[in-house]
Amino acid sequence: MSRYEIANQLVAAGKGIMAADRPPAAFEQLLESEGIAVDDDAYRNWSELLFTTANLNDYVSGIIMTPEQVLLRNEAGESLIAGVIDQGMIPGISPFKGMVALAGSDGETVGSGLDGLRERLAEFAAMGVGFTKWRAAFQIGPGRPSYYAIEANAYVMAQVAALSQEAGLVPIVEPEVMLLGDHTIETCFAVTEWVLSRTFEALYIHRVDLESALVKASMVVSGKDCPQQADVDTVAEQTVKVFRRAIPAAIPGIVFLSGGQSDYHATAHLNTMNANYELPWKLSFSYARALQREPMRIWGNRSENVAATQAALYHRAKMNGLASLGLWKTELEGEAVAP
Ligand code: 13P
Repeated sequence: MSRYEIANQLVAAGKGIMAADRPPAAFEQLLESEGIAVDDDAYRNWSELLFTTANLNDYVSGIIMTPEQVLLRNEAGESLIAGVIDQGMIPGISPFKGMVALAGSDGETVGSGLDGLRERLAEFAAMGVGFTKWRAAFQIGPGRPSYYAIEANAYVMAQVAALSQEAGLVPIVEPEVMLLGDHTIETCFAVTEWVLSRTFEALYIHRVDLESALVKASMVVSGKDCPQQADVDTVAEQTVKVFRRAIPAAIPGIVFLSGGQSDYHATAHLNTMNANYELPWKLSFSYARALQREPMRIWGNRSENVAATQAALYHRAKMNGLASLGLWKTELEGEAVAP
C-alpha cells in the first residue's frame, strides 16, 4: 500500500485508531495504581485481548503499538501483529524511547529515540507496520510552553515525520497541549494555535508530504482545574476554529488523543465537531484511555473477564466510530457512560 492509501485508510469513514502503545513499565504502574494484580503475562495478555477483539475493524482502522508489542506471540506461537493485519487493521509503531528533559529548559521535555531511527523504521516497515506516531507534550503554566520547547519539539516531530516517509510509513505527528492546569479555554486556544503553526512550519522545512501525514491533536478545552469549564459546543467550536487557522486542508485527517477527558466527553466532543461543521479533513479518534479505561477495569487481569472486556472495548470503538460520522447519541450509551 502506498503512503497515501495508508493515510486515507486510517481515516476511512466511520473508523479511527486505537492507541495501545503504553510501554510495559507504564502499563504495570497503571495496573498497580488500579489495584490490579501484575504478573509476567499481563502485558502480553492485555495486548492480545485488545488486538483480537472480534470485528474491532468495524470501527478501528489501525492500532498503535510499542516495539515490544510488534514482537509478541500468542501461546500457540503466532505473531499478534500478523493477526491484526489479517483482521484488516494497520499496525503502527511508537518508536519513541520516552520523554527526556530538554537541556537548558526549566523542566520542559522532548521525545528521545532519534538515534538509529532510520534503521529501526526500515525494520518495522519490513514487519508490516504502516505508520508511526511521535508525541510532543506541552504543559500550560507560567512561562509555558516556552518558545524554545515549541521550536525544539516541532523540529524533532518533523525529523521523525520525514524519516517515516522515507521508510514508506505514514507519520502521525502528535503535538499534545496537555489538559493539566487551571488555564482557561482561551489560553488553550492561543497555545494550540502557536504549537500547531510552528509544527507545520517545521514540517514544511523538513519537506514532509502533507497528503500522506496525519495529525494527532488535542482538543481546545478548559484546563482540568479551571473553575470555568467550557461546554461541549464551545469545545467543538474552538477546536474547529484553531484547526481551520493552523492545519492545511492537504492533511487527510486529524485524529484526537483523549488526554484525560472522560469517555463521555471524548465521544461527545468528536461527535459535535463532525455533526455541526463542514470540514476539509476527516476528524476521528486515536484514543488510548477513552477506549481502554472501562475495559481495563472490567478485565482486572482475569481470564474469565476477557469476553466482557472485549465487548466493552467494541462498544467504545463503536461509539467513537459513530462520533467520527456525527451520528452518535447519548441514548446509544449504556448506563456506564455519563457526562
Ligand atoms: P490518550 O487518548 O489516553 O490521551 O492517549 C493517546 C496517546 O496515544 C498519547 O500519545
